[in-house]
Amino acid sequence: MKLWGGRFTEELNQLALEYTASIGFDYRLFPFDVEGSMAHARMLEQAGIVTSTEAEQLLSGLSGLRADYEAGNLSFSIDDEDVHMNVERLLSNRIGAVAGKLHTARSRNDQVALDMHLFVKYAIDEVSAAVRGLQSALVETAEKNMDVIVPGYTHLQRAQPILFSHHLLAYFWMLERDWGRLADAKKRTDWMPLGAGALAGTTFPIQREFVQEQLGFAALYENSLDAVSDRDYLIEFMSAVGTLMMHLSRFSEEMILWSSEEFGWIELADAYCTGSSMMPQKKNPDVAEVVRGKTGRVYGHLLGLLTVLKGLPLAYNKDLQEDKEGVFDAFDTVLPALKLFTGMIRTLSIREEKLAQAFHHDFSNATDLADYLAAKGMPFREAHAVVGRLVLEATERRTNLAGLPLDVYQSESLLFDEDIYAKLAPQSVVAARAARGGTAPSAVSAQLRMAKQILTEV
Ligand code: ARG
Repeated sequence: MKLWGGRFTEELNQLALEYTASIGFDYRLFPFDVEGSMAHARMLEQAGIVTSTEAEQLLSGLSGLRADYEAGNLSFSIDDEDVHMNVERLLSNRIGAVAGKLHTARSRNDQVALDMHLFVKYAIDEVSAAVRGLQSALVETAEKNMDVIVPGYTHLQRAQPILFSHHLLAYFWMLERDWGRLADAKKRTDWMPLGAGALAGTTFPIQREFVQEQLGFAALYENSLDAVSDRDYLIEFMSAVGTLMMHLSRFSEEMILWSSEEFGWIELADAYCTGSSMMPQKKNPDVAEVVRGKTGRVYGHLLGLLTVLKGLPLAYNKDLQEDKEGVFDAFDTVLPALKLFTGMIRTLSIREEKLAQAFHHDFSNATDLADYLAAKGMPFREAHAVVGRLVLEATERRTNLAGLPLDVYQSESLLFDEDIYAKLAPQSVVAARAARGGTAPSAVSAQLRMAKQILTEV
């Protein structure tokens, strides 16, 4: 017998049951459902809606169920559709008819909203902590490798040399914004919907503030229709997670490039790579590839939910049940990705011998020559053209800028002097970019101090 079966004379079609039931995925709301029900039961007692004895029975029944669940001894049935009705059924098997009082002044519509708010608050805390973990790994790795210089790129063409630490810390700041977006999403996840009933509120003298306080919510929904229909906080969560995955995906792409023989900057630890079933020499950066690949599904979940909500009238509609799997999957995708990246960064090794050769045949110091002339008074545009011609000359002579003799320089401009050669070394090029936010060791050290400060604050 269905818990709502009173007005029905016919059984629900089996396929219809299977198609509309959510227990297959919403079972994982169980701990949050029980937590919410316990707060609701205490409120019912406080408001004089159930007696103390009844509240006691409800609470001990619910904690019994929780213990069974934790011990793996609870089984859910599809006949009860969703986690809420499974809990109610299991509770009534355990404590009898009094279990039926728990749903007083409550609907599954505000109940499921409460469960999802509790889940997302938990998820945000977990993801935020994992973001901090990856930020720490970046700071440590950046600090350990302050002397490593790598080519910096625009258009994936050699641009200017940079500190490897500077490149790593760029991701620190992306993650810092991700952390902020999650914290911001949490503000609006922190609204408590219970008490909205099915849509219009309840005839019972409930005390919503009491429930709010027990569950530690910062605010209450002030409109019952909004409380049961709002899924903005899920959009915000998935948007923050989508952006975070986008960052991890860009980082993945770079890890894959950097560990290729063509770049040869780093070697990833064996623990984060796999081999080939055919080619014995292969060591593939699978973790990074899978993170890059899984980013698409998170974007998909965000767009999926936006589409579910588009055109949905107030208040609750069963379409809203579609809000769960995407949110769960986004969480299940981003959390291990962050943890894997943390391990991958901590264990990567730098191929110093390969990087030492990186600048032998490149022109990534050309800007510095133009800046040299500009600092001596030549208009920058003119200096740019002069150095452009020198690059062409060096290319024709199959050498680099340091390989051109001084008379070639001076035939282009008498502002050139012997001291240019010292400025052409990658170390000098990097050190010259000492303005705030630049790649000079002094600026990157200042950046590291700020990053560390942020990590000690929270
Ligand atoms: N399983 C439902 C969901 O996830 C719970 C709320 C159902 N409410 C209802 N009136 N059928 O949205």
